[in-house]
Amino acid sequence: MPRLVVVSNRVGIPDGGTRAGGLEVAIRPALKRRGGVWFGWSGKITDEEPGKARTTLVENVSYVTVDMLRDDHEEFYNGFANRVLWPILHYRLDLAEFSRRDLGGYFRVNEYFARNLENLLRPDDVVWVHDYHLIPLARALRDRGHKNKIGFFIHIPCPPPEILTALPNHERLIPALGAYDVIGLQTETDAGNICRYFESECHVRRVEDGAFDFDGRHVRVGVFPVGVETEALARLARRAIETAFVREVLDSLSGRAMIIGVDRLDYSKGIPERLNAFESFLTHFPDWRGKVTYLQITPRSRTGIPEYADIGRVVGETAGRINGKFGEASWTPLRYINKAHSRTALAGLYRAARVGLVTPLRDGMNLVAKEYVAAQNADDPGVLILSRFAGAAQECVAALLVNPFDPEAVGAAINRALGMPLAERRERHAHNFRVLVKNDLTHWAERFLSALEGRPAPAPVQYVPRVASGH
Ligand code: F6P
Repeated sequence: MPRLVVVSNRVGIPDGGTRAGGLEVAIRPALKRRGGVWFGWSGKITDEEPGKARTTLVENVSYVTVDMLRDDHEEFYNGFANRVLWPILHYRLDLAEFSRRDLGGYFRVNEYFARNLENLLRPDDVVWVHDYHLIPLARALRDRGHKNKIGFFIHIPCPPPEILTALPNHERLIPALGAYDVIGLQTETDAGNICRYFESECHVRRVEDGAFDFDGRHVRVGVFPVGVETEALARLARRAIETAFVREVLDSLSGRAMIIGVDRLDYSKGIPERLNAFESFLTHFPDWRGKVTYLQITPRSRTGIPEYADIGRVVGETAGRINGKFGEASWTPLRYINKAHSRTALAGLYRAARVGLVTPLRDGMNLVAKEYVAAQNADDPGVLILSRFAGAAQECVAALLVNPFDPEAVGAAINRALGMPLAERRERHAHNFRVLVKNDLTHWAERFLSALEGRPAPAPVQYVPRVASGH
């Protein structure tokens, strides 16, 4: 089998840390299974010309990383990637802060990655590039003469062309995707959107369903919903609920039901809207007051970006207001914490929570939703409340699907979830779990790499409609 080279901005060098962005969570096990190279940024910012790439070999994976110049990091990561692409791809034109300087930094870092990859790549390597930081990387590699198979997977949403075309210089950036062999997206909607963009803006010919001819290059667009290690997580959660940490949390609840939310502190996650929904729940269903505790774990993220400081302020203030309004000396309705937790701690907390509250305003997939399902006790499972605007809603159709912009409806869903009879909880959980076992992380990586390497595709993704009555 050809060597696999994964490229992404972040590289998850195993160090026992608690960083848990979706991308690292997904790539690490997929790469470990096959072995290969993972190339990207070391996480270090430097004021001097960065030295040579460093390699750390752990088992069958070489982690190759480079430092980043302060200006490059500012313009590429804090600037174009996270103040322009991130909001626009999450349908938030109102938050995009475009500058030509940042766009220049974005292309410069892609060139820098391509230059470093040049010393690394062998002619028969298969290259798998991840996420919105690296849209033009294949073009930069092709310009240097690399003919490798190169695939691109975007972990976040892709909006319709009507929104994409509001991105200044989109015509310089998005058509660069035509230098990949396979472009993978999370959902049919995302894939449909990029196909429509290719047809209307690039005027390329659709040669067959989901494939385009970019100046003689056959470019395939496919749907590859990223999964979790469903069965391994279920096993981990069974053990984790017995740990001293989870026992201590459960003891501290004094028998109250727990609702859990786990998100990076990001405006796309809909945290203020969710807190308002919790407030609506306490207002309209007062019998639950004093009987339920909502734990919201929200590690800070992208702290160098003003919009992230803003959302941090809003969430902190809203949490304080709700606790001030409803709290008692003996009961704090909402526990809001910014500390990151280990995978084991989270698995145990998910299993202990009666309700998993996952209500992003827009999300490529949302692996927390899938992890919550995987972690449940099948005999007595909790209920997932899931935003219809998360990619995970395409598969977890037996969750209580909600509109995160409607706090009263989400508040009512919390009430419904807490009071749901055991038989219905079991039926909903079993449905979602079955789908997530079939569409797990191995399946995701296998399907993508088979498409890229031209091998016969494994079984298609399972989208199983729920037949039972009710939403
Ligand atoms: O889900 C999108 C994503 O960019 C992932 O790639 C990453 O794991 C996560 O968000 C965290 O983002 P950052 O690398 O900016 O901390």
